[in-house]
Amino acid sequence: MSAQGVNKMRRRVLVAATSVVGAVGAGYALVPFVASMNPSARARAAGAPVEADVSKLEPGALLRVKWRGKPVWVVSRTPAMLEALPSNDPRLVDPNSEVPQQPEYCQNPTRSIKPDYWVAIGICTHLGCSPTYRPEFAPDDLGPQWKGGFFCPCHGSKFDLAGRVFKGVPAPTNLVIPKHTYLNDTTILVGEDRGAA
Ligand code: FES
Repeated sequence: MSAQGVNKMRRRVLVAATSVVGAVGAGYALVPFVASMNPSARARAAGAPVEADVSKLEPGALLRVKWRGKPVWVVSRTPAMLEALPSNDPRLVDPNSEVPQQPEYCQNPTRSIKPDYWVAIGICTHLGCSPTYRPEFAPDDLGPQWKGGFFCPCHGSKFDLAGRVFKGVPAPTNLVIPKHTYLNDTTILVGEDRGAA
């Protein structure tokens, strides 16, 4: 091989070696970058919306899902439950949901997008216990006027089946309704409404 040929060969070997070092270097540079992204990716995942599949939810039953570490309820309200809601109004603190405890599209008599399904955060607005679902009408311990709702075992707050708080209990406001939307007839996305319910 001529001297020129040898030089050409050396150059090729050098270029190849530099490329390998460059690739490895880029690899090392990437690791701290990815590692620094992981916590925010995790945070995003923790706050990510969750899907609630109501396809097997029996009328009158309650489904629990978790969103941002909080219990979220979906209740399948029966026609009898819906018919009974207005009769609670005179005994409620905020029957028309004037305190913004819900997205605008749920500020209506049923506090929901569709009357049949009601979505709420299952945390008492007094001190944060999780109320018990009491769907029955007029049980002995809750009295003849009870038309189904939620009873908080911690200090006795009561809410109706739209999560509206009754007068004379420690909880000051209605239960919170998270933003949500329907992906289809039987799938509710909790935590996101994509700008419109
Ligand atoms: S936390 Fe529910 S009544 Fe006090």
